[in-house]
This record gives sequence, C-alpha cells and structure tokens, in this order.
Amino acid sequence: MTTPSVQPAASDGATWWRRAVVYQIYPRSFADGSGDGVGDIAGIRSHLAHLSDLGVDAVWINPWYPSPMKDAGYDVSDYRDIEPVFGSLAEAEALLAEAHAAGLRVFLDIVPNHTSDKHRWFVDALASAPGSPERARFYFRDGRGEHGDLPPNDWQSEFGGPAWTRATEADGTPGQWYLRLFAPEQPDVNWDHPDIVAEFDETLRFWFDRGVDGFRIDVAHGLVKDAGLRDIDGMPFPLPDETPEGVDHPHWDQPGVHEIFRHWREIADEYDPPRAYCGEIWVGRDHRLTAYLRADELHTAFNFNHLMCPWLPGPLRASIDATIASHAAVGAPPTWVLGNHDVCRPVSRFARPQELTKDGDRFLSHFADRPADFAAGLRRARAAALLSLALPGGAYIYQGEEIGLPEVEDIPLEAMQDPLAIGTGYENLGRDGCRVPLPWTRHGDSAGFSPDGAASPWLPQPKGWGGLSAEAQEGDVASTLEMYRDALHVRRHHEALGDGTLTWIEAGPDVLAFRRDPGFECWVNLGADPVPLPDGEVLAESADVSGATIPADGAVWLQVSSPSDR
Ligand code: GLC
Repeated sequence: MTTPSVQPAASDGATWWRRAVVYQIYPRSFADGSGDGVGDIAGIRSHLAHLSDLGVDAVWINPWYPSPMKDAGYDVSDYRDIEPVFGSLAEAEALLAEAHAAGLRVFLDIVPNHTSDKHRWFVDALASAPGSPERARFYFRDGRGEHGDLPPNDWQSEFGGPAWTRATEADGTPGQWYLRLFAPEQPDVNWDHPDIVAEFDETLRFWFDRGVDGFRIDVAHGLVKDAGLRDIDGMPFPLPDETPEGVDHPHWDQPGVHEIFRHWREIADEYDPPRAYCGEIWVGRDHRLTAYLRADELHTAFNFNHLMCPWLPGPLRASIDATIASHAAVGAPPTWVLGNHDVCRPVSRFARPQELTKDGDRFLSHFADRPADFAAGLRRARAAALLSLALPGGAYIYQGEEIGLPEVEDIPLEAMQDPLAIGTGYENLGRDGCRVPLPWTRHGDSAGFSPDGAASPWLPQPKGWGGLSAEAQEGDVASTLEMYRDALHVRRHHEALGDGTLTWIEAGPDVLAFRRDPGFECWVNLGADPVPLPDGEVLAESADVSGATIPADGAVWLQVSSPSDR
C-alpha cells in the first residue's frame, strides 16, 4: 500500500481552520461526570481520549454559560462564566489546557442575537419605565390596537406564534411588548446600542484570553433588524434566488450584520495565532452565505445546503459544485455538515425515501411519516461521511455520528424538553431526538453516560442504546467508529485532503467520483446496483469492497498514482 504523503506543517497555525474536522460536543448529552443525569465538563474531560483517538482537529462546545435552560443553554444569563450544572470556570480552563495538550483546538458558542430573560440587563429593563435607557438595549415597543394588546408587527417566532411577548410593567399592568424571535425567555438585543457591542467585545476577549481558539456564532444572520421593524407581509425566507439585490427580509440577513462581523474579525486578528469564527447562517442563497466569508469577516460557515441535500446524485453534485464555486469566489474554504443538535440525525433522514424539496428537509417532522429503512439509512450516512470528509475544506461531526446513532423517534411527549416542540404544540416534534444522552458502554444504567447509580439521563435513552456504544464498536473493523477512525487518520496525513479543489470523474449517473491531487480518489455509489471497484489502494471504505465492487450506497477512498496512469 502506498503511504500517503504527510500534510505539511504549514497547514497549521494561522490557517488550521481551512481544513479542520471539528467535533461538536453538546455538553448536556455528551457525558455526565457528576451523576445528576446531565452531561458536564467533567464528563467531557473524561472522554477527551475518545476524541483524540478518533482523529478530529478541534471541538465546538455548545453554550455552557449560566442559563435558566429554557432553550438548552441558548438563553444565556451571563456570558463570562460557567453554568453550575456543567461545572466551574476553573474546570473549563482545565478542559482547555487538556484539550490543547491532546492536540485539539476548542471553539465555544457565542449567542449574540438574544440573552436570557434572567440576564441582568433584561431584569433591569423590565423594572424600568417605557422609553428608559435600560429598555433601549432590547426591542421594547407599544402594542398595536386601541389598548396596545396586539403585537407591534407581524413577525413570527421560530418556535411558533408571534415573535413578541407582552411585558407586565412594574405596577402590575399589561405593558409594552418585547421582541423575541425564539422563546419568550430569549429577548432579542438591540445591536445599534453601544452597550451590546461592548458586552460582546469583552466576552470575545474574555474567552480568547483564556486560550479559546474560536467561536461558533449562533444565529449570525439575525443580529440586525430593519430600522422601522416593518411587517414581513408574507415575504418568504430564505428569499428565492432571483430576488433582486436590495430587497431584504426585515429581520434575517440584513446588510448591517456585516459591519458587526468585520469588527469581530479585528478582535480575532489581535491574537497570535489569530482566532477563528464559524457562522450559523441560514440564508439559502449561496452568494448571500459567502458574503459573510469575505476576507475581513468570518472564516467559515456551516454548509446547511449540504446538510439538507437528499441522497441523490444529481442534487448532491449540483450542491457541491455551487458550494465550491461560491466559496472560491471569496477565497473561503467550505465546510461539510451532515447534522447538529438542531436537525434530525443523518441515519434517520437518509432512511426515508429521498426527494428534493424546495425548503430542504431537516426536522424529523418533515419526514417522520415516510417509511423508514434504517439499514439503508446507516449505509448512506456512512457513505455520506466519507464523501464529506473527502471534499475540499473543513468538516463537522456532531457527537454520535461517529457511532452511527439514529434519531430517537419515540420520546414520549411528556418527556420532551425542546421549546420548538412545546411552542408548536408538538406539530414540530422538535430536536430532542438528536440530543439523547450518548451511550459509551455496552452495559450500565445509562450505557455509561452517567456513573452507575446516578439520576436518570435528562432525556430517556432507548432500549439497546449500549449496543451502539463506542465500547461495543471498538476494534470491530466493520463498525462505524472504526470507519471514522480510519478515514480521519488518512485525512490528517494525506496531502490531497482538506483545503483545495476537486476534479470530477464521469462514472455514470449513479456514481459521484472525484480526484484530489496528488493521488487520491473518492467514489460513491448512490445507485441500487454494485459498481466495479476502480484501480487503486483502498484507504477507507464505508462498505465491504473486497468483492471488487462498491455496493449500493457505498463509498471508498483510493490511493491512486498520477491521473495519466489511469
Ligand atoms: C440556534 C441554535 C439553536 C437555538 C437557536 C436559538 O439555531 O443552534 O439550538 O435554539 O439558535 O438560540
């Protein structure tokens, strides 16, 4: 077998993020060290070896700040401390040091669109009069209608119903309304206010000074609102591709957001090595996404078009091409994402009949009623992982993808905690199904999530969960865990992988195949019939290719000699 050439050290340092594989840790559900049934920093520290053995380059930790947990930590009451359920600031610093020692960089998650209603500023705002400086940090407005009892405009919450909540004034009377695009406990802050700018500058520096390598930015496309808070009036979002420039949605992707991120970039660049950002930006149109990735703005953004693309060769290739072209136009590396804490796990999404839909299917509710073939789902999720890890740029792995976890689809309604499920009256089944606490061991009360004898996990785990654990897969060459380890090992050392370009190989309508130089090919069979295995040394495989074919829904990585030899 040919030994892949070693990635030059120059790829590290200031531009590590151009090729990084980032593992997403959802702390509530990763591992529980304290035994209260909720994951924590102690749990993360006890499993760092799993991550360095896996071969990822960095971790992104979902919000771990003090929070009333009305939206699982995305309602932050203090940006510069640690939620006691998760541990302490000292433990967070110890984790940072240990992660760095294990060769892992650390991204935190910053939530700049809204605070918690228990943040001191919002508490002050509620206690202050309409028109007061305390209220100016948020969007307080009088209601419409004779008695002000109608919301100030027609904006809708992402979690269902109007995006406004009526406050009770200090004297107990119904008062002004405040904007909250998510839960009532998540008031949107006013980014025109200098206190907001200063608060987040200080927060970025607080964590960067402690060695944090970067931030994932929550709802990055939402920070700026139309100055007049004009009605949406049925305007769709994402806006259709043909929308003329200058026609903007009143609260998503407003042009003013870019100024905020230019300023944040300056802060990241004050550090050595410079810190990096990844934006959570749901905007649909490619050129609007990559506008955030211009050289003086964010470094990377999640590629949600890839995440929502069905397992169909035509749409996948078109989406990959559009991604690569739009990112190349601004000199930014794409990222390849299959799942996260907000969407249905890929195994269960790919288990359903695949179709291209206008808005992209990502929640379980979008397809829960379609017949499911979970064996096919797992095959496709594995192949999709090899595909994603071979594409140019960086990649994200959501915890549990490396062991092929499916969505948990039968959480009883009364056990659900997601405000999306509750706010929509369970019309949307929400995101709890991808947040079920991880299994680590074959046996044990919570399959090793908590110490034995601990409180029950905060969401119920399904029967047989331990059979999917890392312990159960360890050493089994056919397992998803070992497939990921192989692939990540190859990826780390292969000069062709990570940042760069690809060249498609025309291999038939059901096959996606491409070359990356020097000497690497990825072949993915999306058809129902096996296809002949091309020449080359097998570096990684998502399905058994020893029969000299790539089975249906299988992917293979090959070390090949120069293209002219083929
Ligand atoms: C982002 C987070 C999601 C959260 C929302 C509101 O989309 O990923 O989990 O509910 O923002 O903060």
